Amino acid sequence: MSVRRLADASVQPASFAFSAENAIWAQHTINKYPEGRQQSAVIPLLMRAQEQDGWVTKATIEYVADMLDMPYIRVLEVATFYTQFQIKPVGTRAHIQVCGTTPCMLRGSEALMDVCRSKIHPEQGQPNEAGTMSWEEVECQGACVNAPMVIIFKDAYEDLTPERLAEIIDEFEAGNGASVPTGPQNGRVFAAPATGLTSLTDETAVLKSTRDQAAAAAKTSD
Ligand code: FES
Repeated sequence: MSVRRLADASVQPASFAFSAENAIWAQHTINKYPEGRQQSAVIPLLMRAQEQDGWVTKATIEYVADMLDMPYIRVLEVATFYTQFQIKPVGTRAHIQVCGTTPCMLRGSEALMDVCRSKIHPEQGQPNEAGTMSWEEVECQGACVNAPMVIIFKDAYEDLTPERLAEIIDEFEAGNGASVPTGPQNGRVFAAPATGLTSLTDETAVLKSTRDQAAAAAKTSD
């Protein structure tokens, strides 16, 4: 797991403000919460700010804290805890978050990180020269059945091999990220067994209507 600290002061913008449209959305979001519970809007507001500017800056954290009447440290805690928040500038076309927790590690996440090291940057958290791609190791993303996996922005790419990840990186680098199918990359259906169903292989067989038909047929043959 990488240490999560705010980006260097040299890259921090002086200020942050929601666009007019996002400011209306933010106020509407805050109003959803009961009186006295407006701080519950901290995660959606930080996420909207990230979607607007690409990453969460120090100014963003202070702006959101002031909006919700929270101490800056409380919003900093949220932004630095959740890896969904990018607290440094990331690749504009893709930021690849490679899960390195035990199930993914046992299924080859280190080899996936080697692909990122060779195709993007030897160091995680550092964008490539063009500023289009970056990567980092993160903790479990909740898709362990389909290990190893990566998250790119809001989408998961699962059941990966180093070769398939290399292809995906090339697609994003070429600006074709939207065409890459999300989810399992090996033909698996969602999180079903990779080699096919081992139970409930015939759902109609267990239905009451099927049992009733079988009982009626048995009665007739008696
Ligand atoms: S360990 Fe990688 S998704 Fe859970």
